[in-house]
Amino acid sequence: MGRGQAMKVLVIGNGGREHAICWKLSQSPKLTKLYAAPGNAGIGEIAQNVDIAAKDRERLLQFCKKEAIDLVIVGPEAPLVDGIVDRFEKEGIKIFGPSQYAAQLEGSKVFSKQLMKQLSIPTGEFEVFDSPEKAMDYVAKKGVPIVVKVDGLAGGKGVVVATSKPKAMEAIHRDMVKKVFGKAGERVVIEECLQGEEASVIAITDGETVRLLASSQDHKRIFDGDHGPNTGGMGAYSPTPAVTEELDRQIVDEVFVPVVKNFKAQGHPFKGFLYAGIMVTPQGYRVLEFNVRLGDPETQAILPRLKNDLLEVLLAATEGRLSEIKLEWEDVYCVCVVIASHGYPEEYETGKKISGIASARENPGVHIFHAGTKMEDNQLVTAGGRVLNVSGCGHGIFEALSKTYHAIDQIFFEKMVYRKDIGQKAAKVLK
Ligand code: AMP
Ligand code: GLY
Repeated sequence: MGRGQAMKVLVIGNGGREHAICWKLSQSPKLTKLYAAPGNAGIGEIAQNVDIAAKDRERLLQFCKKEAIDLVIVGPEAPLVDGIVDRFEKEGIKIFGPSQYAAQLEGSKVFSKQLMKQLSIPTGEFEVFDSPEKAMDYVAKKGVPIVVKVDGLAGGKGVVVATSKPKAMEAIHRDMVKKVFGKAGERVVIEECLQGEEASVIAITDGETVRLLASSQDHKRIFDGDHGPNTGGMGAYSPTPAVTEELDRQIVDEVFVPVVKNFKAQGHPFKGFLYAGIMVTPQGYRVLEFNVRLGDPETQAILPRLKNDLLEVLLAATEGRLSEIKLEWEDVYCVCVVIASHGYPEEYETGKKISGIASARENPGVHIFHAGTKMEDNQLVTAGGRVLNVSGCGHGIFEALSKTYHAIDQIFFEKMVYRKDIGQKAAKVLK
């Protein structure tokens, strides 16, 4: 398979992020066939869903061989941390994403914090513990607020920002004594609590060249005004005024370039998306965490602004020629609001009939991405906590917001919930 030829692509995952990736890929003239495993109802309208779970690596591998897939794109972190890229590359299959070694940047908070320390990347002060008693002694000495993080993957539930000592002790007990997250909680990172504005800064790299994506801001809490428990993300917008051009440059020079150089020097070049969750504090930015993939829902606010052919970008990055690519962005704001099932991120019901999508997507500049949806007896129904993502682009944050919320008004399912204040932080700054 040479350049410029027809391509068969498989996207792994089933969320709104993967729907946005599939939507963008499907515009590429290079694409001949798009598959998604396992996909969702919305993805099924533009790609062929394949009934194989993202974690079922060997069946995915067989599928790629049988269908002669030219490029595999991995959406979520778990298969990357499990080493899917090493396994597929060993079998000669082209796959975009970091190796198992490089994916430790997300798979182990201890690994990532130690790397940040080694490379003098600004991050909160921290200590690592493998004994609950020592962790508790440290909290007793340091006081609150303080942040307790399990080392390994915990589906977004492994971080507790504790505002009282009993809460911090309870988190340590949950992670290290009750072992709620199993091996992921054998070690914890206890970190200084930082105050400021959070933002997501994501780059793409082929192991050498780094290209920055447009900035964005996620909304992690379930309720308006940033109240209630953390979720996978209830909405996002791009760009965010929290990340100035100067800060973008600083993060490339002080974070992404040193990290990419380090992995190359270790003999494990980092190929993939590199996501820095940052806190902009009065003392400057601090890196809270790294992810080794695109953010969800940040992607649904970023990709609608991308002018490039995404397939060309990903292929160039996979083949080590990202230096040939310059990313270009539409000069618009894009807002993405997540519509969820009442009860999420805890217990929620599924199987609710969804209506109004056809008319909502008629709105110019609006995209409806599916997350937890499925078709049941020819009817679209809810099948997850985060159900739909409505993304609206406009000239200025206010137009983007009004388009997005207008489209949401046309959508209905029983017990749907969504935040009414997505993008309000930007709206306050930009008014
Ligand atoms: P992480 O998975 O490390 O990004 O943590 C999840 C969320 O916890 C972040 O998006 C922040 O909202 C919060 N958080 C993590 N680390 C800190 C910290 N050091 N100070 C304050 N909040 C934090
Ligand atoms: N939206 C945050 C994440 O994807 O990790």
